[in-house]
Amino acid sequence: MKKIQYQINKLREKILKYDYFYHTLDKPIISDPEYDYLLNQLYNLELKYKELITPDSPTQKIGSNLLDKFKKIRHFFPMLSLENTFDLNGYLKFENRIKKVFITDSKIDFCCELKIDGIAVSLIYEEGILIRAATRGDGYFGENITQNVKTIKSIPLKLKGLNIPKRLEIRGEVFMLKSDFSDLNIQSCSDKKKYFSNPRNAAAGSLRQIDSKITAKRKLMFFCHGFNFFKETKFFKTHYETLIHFKNWGIPINKEILICSSHLEIFNFYKKFEKNRLLFNFDVDGIVIKVNSLYYQKKLGSNNKSPRWAIAFKYFPKEEITKLNDVKFEVGRTGVITPVAYFNPVCISGVIIKKASLYNRQVMNKLNLHFNDYITIQRSGDVIPKIINVIKNKRLKNTKKIVFPIYCPVCNSKLLIHEKGKTIRCLAGLMCNAQKKKLFCHFFSKYGLNANGLGPKIINKLIQKKIVLNLIDFFYLKEDQLKTIENIGKKKSAKIIKIIYLSKRTTINRFICAIGIFSVGEVIAEKLSNYFHIVNNLINSSKEELESIDGIGSVVAHNIFNYFSIPENKRLVEELTEVLNILPYNQNIINDKIPSIFNKNIVITGIFRNYSRNELQEILINLGARVSNKVSKKTELLIFGEKFGRKFLEANKLNIKMMNEEDFILLMKNMN
Ligand code: IVH
Repeated sequence: MKKIQYQINKLREKILKYDYFYHTLDKPIISDPEYDYLLNQLYNLELKYKELITPDSPTQKIGSNLLDKFKKIRHFFPMLSLENTFDLNGYLKFENRIKKVFITDSKIDFCCELKIDGIAVSLIYEEGILIRAATRGDGYFGENITQNVKTIKSIPLKLKGLNIPKRLEIRGEVFMLKSDFSDLNIQSCSDKKKYFSNPRNAAAGSLRQIDSKITAKRKLMFFCHGFNFFKETKFFKTHYETLIHFKNWGIPINKEILICSSHLEIFNFYKKFEKNRLLFNFDVDGIVIKVNSLYYQKKLGSNNKSPRWAIAFKYFPKEEITKLNDVKFEVGRTGVITPVAYFNPVCISGVIIKKASLYNRQVMNKLNLHFNDYITIQRSGDVIPKIINVIKNKRLKNTKKIVFPIYCPVCNSKLLIHEKGKTIRCLAGLMCNAQKKKLFCHFFSKYGLNANGLGPKIINKLIQKKIVLNLIDFFYLKEDQLKTIENIGKKKSAKIIKIIYLSKRTTINRFICAIGIFSVGEVIAEKLSNYFHIVNNLINSSKEELESIDGIGSVVAHNIFNYFSIPENKRLVEELTEVLNILPYNQNIINDKIPSIFNKNIVITGIFRNYSRNELQEILINLGARVSNKVSKKTELLIFGEKFGRKFLEANKLNIKMMNEEDFILLMKNMN
């Protein structure tokens, strides 16, 4: 016994020394397998002589419940990754490589499984008891997540059945059901907590909770897809046989497993789940094909990234099936009605999608949507969500077809059909509350008067409370009126009034864009400004004159003419021109002389010697800039004064162009 104790002490001493070199000095002095070998020796001795185990033994650290959460632990066997292919050719190359190794043309059995999109974990069972769980980490060191994994119901804490090995490593995937993910996000949203972008992230986040009680509530699931035996190498002959046997020990495996011996069978398995996988309640991103014989697996071995005996044949992750809940008909700024489909949230390429535009009546009718239909969602160009089809055989009986309305869903006026039935518009203009809200927001937005700080929230409240009935009212707002809105006090109301006051000084192109004529955006507004110079000329122009302007077609000319032929519109524009200070547009000055200012998103920071910040802001706006308060990726220039703050650092980090006050003054001088 003394000899054993001595042996154990020596091993512990060595391991602790190597730990110190590795963790503290960051200078490992032995290789990983050598370290593992020593650790395994110690493990085996302690297994045999349990009375010699001490709490400070390095083995106890690995399996210990007292171990710090997420402390790094070394894997007994490296947790490698899988080679990937997206096409049959890639798979055939893999198969040929294997056949070459065994110089055989005879059949090799492959075990095909689903590739579940979750988090890989390693579970160590000793004498059938779960003693340690770890994430993959960098493949060599993972994080200790034992306590959290113990809360996952489908992971047995104790294996059942006979002939359980002394030590066994189970590898598999921890994942979250799509439905549980959806529920979790709904809950997180209402609790104003972090929103997860997909079930995989939700599973990862749940596994890394400091408080295991939170993990326990997250309903995580587990499927085993791999294993390592420590000593008893002749336990099983094939991968398939082993997984099936694991069921007897209480280890969950996914039931979609198939032994295939030709690439045709494998391709059929792949194809079978290509579409069907969307109906699973968990994310499947491909299939995994593994050489079935464990002897062959061992012979093939691994490279430093992946085993040579397995490959992932992946699906393109661009479609999801979900249930349609409703189609809402949204009224745009110019009265165009856009149908928008709302469905149960789905995650495509890492983004949660719960609605998709149906664009117009034609597109909507072509899909022939019914309430509660199952629909396939795609992100066209991997960005814009789109409904690509309806799964007809899943349609419920007696469900109602979704039809385009005849009356405006907001103001109830009769809708007008434009462009051969494609565009449908509500012509009520400012009489329609939806159009009113959107026009008012657009008017003060960066496309219009750029009243940064007067956003949709405040505007909607002002409309709701009937404080503003038309655009002119904004310019006569009093502090007392603003203070009736919740969260707006004396300081904020004064600020809003100042913002509106500053926005009065604008350019003709901004103004034309701001009034929101159907089909007139920034580009057309610029062409009109360049041609008419002052608003009055535009108001009184004829259709022919409008059509004669380069770049303005008959449809746009018709829309502009129509707009001003409505007396209310004409009166509003005239009144606005009286209240505002609209500067004439001179493209040459602005574009040629200060291209670094015109149309640029600019942020200012610090204290300026020659201007107050508001003055500087006003100058910039008049030079056609969009001035914002926050530095973002969209910021194109930062003008900084003295005692600049955080914005400077943020802009520097994003590599945004910068200019100090002297540079700016120089620029202005050159302009004149
Ligand atoms: S076998 C050497 N089988 O996919 C790794 N992996 O992209 C052998 N995965 O890290 C893994 N389902 O976490 C295997 N049926 C399956 C799988 C599967 C999901 C994950 C696994 C691995 C990742 C590789």
